Amino acid sequence: MEPEIIEAQKRLEQKRSEVSTRQTVPTRIGSGQEPGTVERVCRDCGSVFRCPEAINYTRCPDCRQRMNEERVEALQRERGAIEAEMRTAEQKRLFSEVQVGKRYQGQTWDDYLPSTEAARKVSDVCRKYAGNFREATETGRCLVMIGGPGTGKNMLSALICQDVAGQGFTALHTTAMKLVRRVKESWGKGSEETESQAIRNFTLPDLLVIDEIGVQFGSTAEQIILTEIINDRYEAMRPTIIISNLTVPQLEEILGKRVVDRFYENGGRVLVFNWQSYRRQKIA
Ligand SMILES: Nc1ncnc2c1ncn2[C@@H]1O[C@H](COP(=O)(O)OP(=O)(O)OP(=O)(O)O)[C@@H](O)[C@H]1O
Ligand SMILES: [Mg+2]
Ligand SMILES: [Zn+2]
Repeated sequence: MEPEIIEAQKRLEQKRSEVSTRQTVPTRIGSGQEPGTVERVCRDCGSVFRCPEAINYTRCPDCRQRMNEERVEALQRERGAIEAEMRTAEQKRLFSEVQVGKRYQGQTWDDYLPSTEAARKVSDVCRKYAGNFREATETGRCLVMIGGPGTGKNMLSALICQDVAGQGFTALHTTAMKLVRRVKESWGKGSEETESQAIRNFTLPDLLVIDEIGVQFGSTAEQIILTEIINDRYEAMRPTIIISNLTVPQLEEILGKRVVDRFYENGGRVLVFNWQSYRRQKIA
């Protein structure tokens, strides 16, 4: 776990115990003249009250209770703030787990230089998709990015992740290989997580990007894992972006026609990156 999450968790635990101990309000003192008690005047409301001589209360029981309640409220507010901070830290962790890779971290939409008119259109679609991400989460709108190497699929999907994470959504950028491996690992004896836990990792984020869906995912087990996660997300209307060097018919062969169809629903798009590799362009 990230140190900042551990730190926030520690503080939260401390606040929790403070809140629970302070919630016990001191027992009220009777009005009779118990031996060993003295009469005092409350500094807040001016009423007269009795308290044990040994305890130097300056406030009457009512005012003490009110003060305690205020303290508890303040602590609870503080606790709420820490919890919010933890959620942000968790989001940051999720995002760094995004593993968009160092190469793409800190890049902005302005760093994308379209080499053709089609490239400009594709980047506009991506930018709009990220900008209207709330809408995408309401309808489960997905994207497919297909095309040759070096055409900017990773760059644009990383920009989308960064953009939506900045809006407070959770985004996870992973590869088909990592996803399948994590689920398969959960099948092993002594595995730390159950299969459903492993799957939940991928069905929970607001946005999931599955990169590098290739021909090697033709085996039945791998197909089932991939389609199950995509279907679960579809049922929950959570957007998924899939990236591949394959063609649409090849993708249909691996994921099934029904799954690929879902990517066209609710304004979903198949973006074809059919221009020259940016990597080669840089050399030229
Ligand atoms: N239009 C562009 N403007 C600026 N940089 C770009 C552009 N397209 C690609 N790049 C850069 O070129 C490199 C390759 O791009 P990227 O990794 O996004 O390609 P890809 O489509 O994912 O390729 P592959 O299929 O090989 O994984 C990256 O460093 C990326 O930042
Ligand atoms: Mg790539
Ligand atoms: Zn008082």
